[in-house]
Amino acid sequence: MNKNTRLITIAVDGYSSSGKSTMARRLAAAVGYRYIDSGAMYRAVTLYALDNGLISTDGEPDKAAIVSALPEISIDFAVQPDGTQHTLLNGVDVETEIRRLRVSNAVSPVAAIAEVRRALVAMQKKMGERKGIVMDGRDIGTVVFPDAELKIFVDASPETRAMRRFKELVEKGSQVSYEDVLSNVVHRDHIDTTRDESPLRRAEDAISLDNSLMSLEEQDAWLLKQFNKVLQFG
Ligand code: CDP
Repeated sequence: MNKNTRLITIAVDGYSSSGKSTMARRLAAAVGYRYIDSGAMYRAVTLYALDNGLISTDGEPDKAAIVSALPEISIDFAVQPDGTQHTLLNGVDVETEIRRLRVSNAVSPVAAIAEVRRALVAMQKKMGERKGIVMDGRDIGTVVFPDAELKIFVDASPETRAMRRFKELVEKGSQVSYEDVLSNVVHRDHIDTTRDESPLRRAEDAISLDNSLMSLEEQDAWLLKQFNKVLQFG
């Protein structure tokens, strides 16, 4: 096969609100690949758990109940006319709902449940079987696609990340404070990096990117350069 038409797998991992999703979505669009937001899948399971009373008011998930509900939870992505994707939970578009702070505040303990991870990782591996995919998350380069040809690990300071997410939520009409968003970011970082089951960490062969001071255009150019390098020399 011509090296330039070879399809590869691209894993984008990093801390919460580091801009991974924007980065992964734009790269996928630029190279004509499928984009999957694995975080949306953990968020969808969390929304199901919240709406079905499987998370206590102090945020403790009822693990056994969530695990036994897994067969009743189906997650899909629907491509919109403008090219963006919306997450479907049991056929219902929950894209707006899963981005709310209510879900952000509950998601990390749910994502730390081993059986939840096992079920979602199996779905993600299946989605990537034919390559030509960009997936973003926490464990994509380490667990989901350890053989990905291009792995990127994104970082930025917690304050930069919280400010980005705060602006995003305010633009969407949410009434949140910067302090609440920052404390959510820091709290999730802690749970995501210290959990037993596939904690967030940089794969040894991942390329690190601190995008605190990068414009979107600079970031796009940097990503395309990494992509082309793999196609040429990888
Ligand atoms: O958008 P943001 O970066 O804030 O988070 P996300 O990618 O939507 O992921 C939400 C949460 O799901 C994370 O804080 C993790 O707890 C969990 N997650 C995970 O454990 N593994 C993944 N591959 C993706 C997300």
